[in-house]
Order: sequence, then C-alpha cells, then structure tokens
Amino acid sequence: MYNIQTLNKIAACGTDLMDKSKYAFGDDVKNPDAILVRSAAMHDMELGDNLLAIARAGAGTNNIPIDKCSEKGVVVFNTPGANANAVKELVIAALLMSSRKIPASLDWIKTLKGKGDEVGKLVEKGKSQFAGPEIMGKKLGVIGLGAIGILVANAAAALGMDVYGADPFLSVDGALKLSGKVHYVKSNKEIFEQCDYITLHVPLLPDTKGMINADVIASMKKNVRLLNFSRDALVDETAIIDALNNGGMACYVTDFPTDALIGVDGVVALPHLGASTPESEDNCAVMAVKEIMDYIENGNIKNSVNLPNVEMTISGSAKICVIHKNVEGVINSLTAPVSAAGLNIENMMSKSKKDYAYTCLDVSGNTTGIESKLMEAANVISVRVIK
Ligand code: MLT
Repeated sequence: MYNIQTLNKIAACGTDLMDKSKYAFGDDVKNPDAILVRSAAMHDMELGDNLLAIARAGAGTNNIPIDKCSEKGVVVFNTPGANANAVKELVIAALLMSSRKIPASLDWIKTLKGKGDEVGKLVEKGKSQFAGPEIMGKKLGVIGLGAIGILVANAAAALGMDVYGADPFLSVDGALKLSGKVHYVKSNKEIFEQCDYITLHVPLLPDTKGMINADVIASMKKNVRLLNFSRDALVDETAIIDALNNGGMACYVTDFPTDALIGVDGVVALPHLGASTPESEDNCAVMAVKEIMDYIENGNIKNSVNLPNVEMTISGSAKICVIHKNVEGVINSLTAPVSAAGLNIENMMSKSKKDYAYTCLDVSGNTTGIESKLMEAANVISVRVIK
C-alpha cells in the first residue's frame, strides 16, 4: 500500500485515478510515500523517511524546499502547461484592464447607485476619466516563453498586437508552438526599451528575483503597462509604486496584491486567480497524480524540477533506480556491484540535471541484497528496486 498525503484540495478526477487497493490518500495520511500539493508552504515541513516524491499541481515550485528534497533523493514534479490556458485567459483580461480603466470604472459606477434618472447623464459626463488606448497594433513584450508565455504571445498576436518574446531557454517544442507572427528577440533589454505592454512569465529563481527594478523601469517607455501573473518577488514593489507615482509607468496589473500596492493609483490587483478554473484544477490534478504513480510504480520521471526526465520500460526481471550526485565515477560504482551480484544488465539509462543524476538499470537475475550494496557506494542518495 502506498500512502499519498494531500496538503491541499486536489481535484477528484486526479485522486480517482489511484487504485484504492494500492493507494491510501488524504490530508491525514502519515509517513507518506508521496505528497500532492498546490500552494501549501512546505519549507518548514519535516520530510519523512518514506518520502519518494512531491507533485505540485501547478507550475511554480517556490513553496517546496527543492534543495532539501534533492539532498534527500525526493523527486519534485510540477505540471507544466496544465493550467496554462487558464492563466493565459486571465492575462488577456489583464491586458484589456490595463488599457481602459475597467476596474476603476466598475467602482465608480457603484457610486452612482441611488441617483435615479440621473444615472445615464452622469455616466456620459464621467466616462472620459476611464478612457484608454486600444491594444491592437501596440507592442507587447512577453518575457519567458514557457507553456504560459507562448499561449499569451500567440493570443495577443491573434488580437492584433505586435508581439515580441524573449527566452534564452526556449525549447524546440516551444519554438514550434510559437506563432510565426511573434518576433523572437535575444534579450529582455529589447523588450524593456520598445514595448508598450510587458508581461512576465518566468519562474522565481535567484536569477529572476527583483528583475524588474528601478533601473530596468527607467529603461522602459514612460507609459508602459506591466503585467505580473508569475510571482510577486520578480518585481521591486517600491520601484513600481515610485514609477506609478512619478509618471514612469501607466499601470501595473498583478495577481499578487500586497498592502503597499492596494489603493495605489495605476495598480490593478487581483486575487491569485490564474489557475482557478475547474478545467485547470482537473488538468493539474490528473497530471500530478499520473506523475506520482508512474514514479512510484515504474520509476519513471517526467516533469521533475530537480531530477532529469528518465523513462524506461523493464524487459528484465527488475529495475534498479538510483538517485545520486552528478559526479565522476558513480556509474562504475553502480555497475560493478550489480555485475558482482550475478545480475545481467539488459538496459541502462542515466541522465543528469545540474548536481544530481538518475540512473536506471534494467536487470535479470536475483536482486536480493542489491539495494544495501548500492547504498554503500559513494555519492549514492537513494536506491529502489522495482519488480
Ligand atoms: C502556478 O504556479 O501554477 C500558478 O501560480 C497557479 C497556482 O499555483 O495557483
């Protein structure tokens, strides 16, 4: 029986995929083999000895202590693309809200309650304060062309915007999905200097933290409209507020409201609603549960943020799955004891991701005792034998 702990509500269409004769799941499950999480903060959580994997039903993984997980051999998955359409739709709404002052106009309309027959006249008189430019033909810069950035870029291009996209890590798959109308640029600088609208679609990493600061804002057009539906700490909030107050930015739309931002002229702050659609909750839950089950049952890794993707079917009698440091000599120290134990290696796959690596050996023979032998090898973090 595998224990799966859910730290947040996970859509039933995902958890229903788990065979109840093999999996126990729920928020009260103890000593989990895997954890399913959405936004719960895990940084101060104790990671139990049985824990093999954590799957985040969503894209960002900044609520998970990735380094601690890697050191303990815990595979962390996310669900790239599963909520991308939901986020894209909210970003398109944000683009429109950043142009015409739609949120402020809605608030103003409410102040007319009780004015009786005067409402029509008051509306005509007051509406000009909420006017704003059309997005058609304007330059939009998309920073980060992952699953969400690509959808936003393509949708904005289809709405007639002149779209520029930047991403040094653009994948081949991503490039194939990007509309031919989107101009790919090599640096964010080109976007900062040229675009009327800029939208951020990058993860929060040491390199991206505070990427929108006072200097960067100073290089932008004075009436720039900035959208941040990625993570709060990508921007220096004080610099944004200063720019809005001194005419260096026309509008900042974000779904990370803070006390400082609320009420500032030019800020449109929404709750973090990007993935809050039934469709995206279902997609994320299904993808997260499938990732966990495939790892637990077959040792396959797909969509991990801390370990490489390795998928290999078993043709021998067992699959030996080893998480280890990505340093020289480890492969020899794995194959030698396997051969010495009289096992034949039918197939083998080893891949690395930064400081860590994952090696799978598809073997024939009697694997009794091999786990503890391999754990003795230097730089090995965890060993599992799947039959
Ligand atoms: C994500 O990381 O997938 C998005 O921020 C949406 C969310 O977590 O709610």
